[in-house]
Amino acid sequence: MEKETNEKPTSGKTKFMDNDDMEKQKLPTVCVTGGTGFLGSTICQFLLSEGTWDVRCTVRNKLNDKKMQPLKDGLGRLFDDLDVYNAEMEDPDAIDAAIEGCQYVIHCASPFP
Ligand SMILES: NC(=O)c1ccc[n+]([C@@H]2O[C@H](COP(=O)([O-])OP(=O)(O)OC[C@H]3O[C@@H](n4cnc5c(N)ncnc54)[C@H](OP(=O)(O)O)[C@@H]3O)[C@@H](O)[C@H]2O)c1
Repeated sequence: MEKETNEKPTSGKTKFMDNDDMEKQKLPTVCVTGGTGFLGSTICQFLLSEGTWDVRCTVRNKLNDKKMQPLKDGLGRLFDDLDVYNAEMEDPDAIDAAIEGCQYVIHCASPFP
């Protein structure tokens, strides 16, 4: 299965912030690990619907449609406001990248026993 990095593509164009961007920038950032899981997806939905958080989540591979589609379907249009990071829990660099700049981390990624 194809892997994707967390690098954002750069167009070379300067992007000016609009009011929505500035508003989002002021919100506290929270990273929810295990976004495809039961708890992670539920917490993402709760936080996004509050509208007072800049919400990220980690998944193992955001190109894995089988895992991502239920998250997208569950969140509906809220999914557009979710920043999704690839982070296998055994990859410290990926975790560092996902939580960089976050004020809060809600750690739900875990094998369910
Ligand atoms: N559900 C409950 O009522 C409940 C109650 C108390 C405590 N807990 C605990 O809370 C945790 C999460 O529960 P849950 O119900 O949300 O479980 P879940 O639905 O199985 O979700 C687990 C999540 O962790 C991810 N994950 C597992 N191993 C990973 C790894 N090595 N690297 C990255 N991601 C990984 C899974 O990713 P994939 O989707 O890619 O597999 C999935 O997103 C568990 O430890 C559970 O014991 C749950």
